[in-house]
Amino acid sequence: MADYKSELVGTHASINSLRGLIEKVARSPARTVLIYGETGTGKGLVARMIHQASSRAAREFVDINCAAIPASLLESELFGHERGAFTGAVERKLGLIEAANQGSVFLDEIRELDPPLQTKLLSLLDTQQFRRVGAVKPTKVDVRFIAATNKVLLSEVSAGKFREDLYYRLQVVALNLPALRERGDDVLTLARYFISKYNVMYKRAITGLAPETAEVFLRYAWPGNVRELENLLERIFILEEDDVILPSHLPDRILRSVIAGAVPRPADGAPALPEGNFREATEAFQRVVLARALEAADGNLQTAATRLGLSRHALRHQMLKLGLAKA
Ligand SMILES: Nc1ncnc2c1ncn2[C@@H]1O[C@H](COP(=O)(O)OP(=O)(O)OP(=O)(O)O)[C@@H](O)[C@H]1O
Ligand SMILES: [Mg+2]
Repeated sequence: MADYKSELVGTHASINSLRGLIEKVARSPARTVLIYGETGTGKGLVARMIHQASSRAAREFVDINCAAIPASLLESELFGHERGAFTGAVERKLGLIEAANQGSVFLDEIRELDPPLQTKLLSLLDTQQFRRVGAVKPTKVDVRFIAATNKVLLSEVSAGKFREDLYYRLQVVALNLPALRERGDDVLTLARYFISKYNVMYKRAITGLAPETAEVFLRYAWPGNVRELENLLERIFILEEDDVILPSHLPDRILRSVIAGAVPRPADGAPALPEGNFREATEAFQRVVLARALEAADGNLQTAATRLGLSRHALRHQMLKLGLAKA
């Protein structure tokens, strides 16, 4: 994992501008960077890229998952401790932050950081000094902190769980990773990329996605984002023997969710009859009917309602019920 040159695959405008931002941030003197993104969008990858593109590249990149280490251990893991600082501290131990001197520290799931550690981190950011647990004298250190979170931190701030001053400090340089479903055709580019990767790894010659599979990929919401796509493809490499990836290779869960959300694109012909239980199938059909009427009416609710023989209010109600509109 750590030794290959990380590559951000994709050509969507949001990814192209992200690439530019990564370069800029990497070369900047910024001591903190915050990365936002849903699970599996590539936060770890981007953090590594920032490190690799920076003048710190030859030094350590330390990867710490704040949610994975119990708070009681995290302080001495991060900051180290002096001999005798607590029972069992028989020797001085250097913390991960000191080990990353002149390099980068990646704090994944930063919102899980305990309030006392938030305070200690903020002071380190302000002074570039910290104290090992049990130390009298401060230690100087030069590191860049790259923090990541999959939830908007502001709600943790208003809930009193995340220090507001630390939040603003981290927020100075923030990068947003779009969800996979917001990246247009990139899902197909990424699929090709992972297929060539696994062709080499598993000594296979899969040529690509069947057109129907590509259609499903474009319509599916990918809640687990790029990681979900990669894991799905690897599973198919392991379980299937065809040289092209067919819709029948996909889990039912994905097919069902695509059918349930099926809103045909303008170029489509008659809607295929949806499968599934009666309620799901009926709703899928209603969605198609409403989506077409709205499209024909250029999104004008009143015109679409008249066409459908509904009141505007009833149409709005149906749209909310079927998930075609937000309250
Ligand atoms: N644009 C991309 N190009 C190539 N590989 C990618 C891309 N985005 C993500 N990946 C790969 O997908 C996997 C998931 O990415 P990563 O672990 O960085 O996501 P994450 O946002 O950190 O997820 P989590 O929030 O669950 O920790 C990794 O194997 C990563 O290398
Ligand atoms: Mg991650």
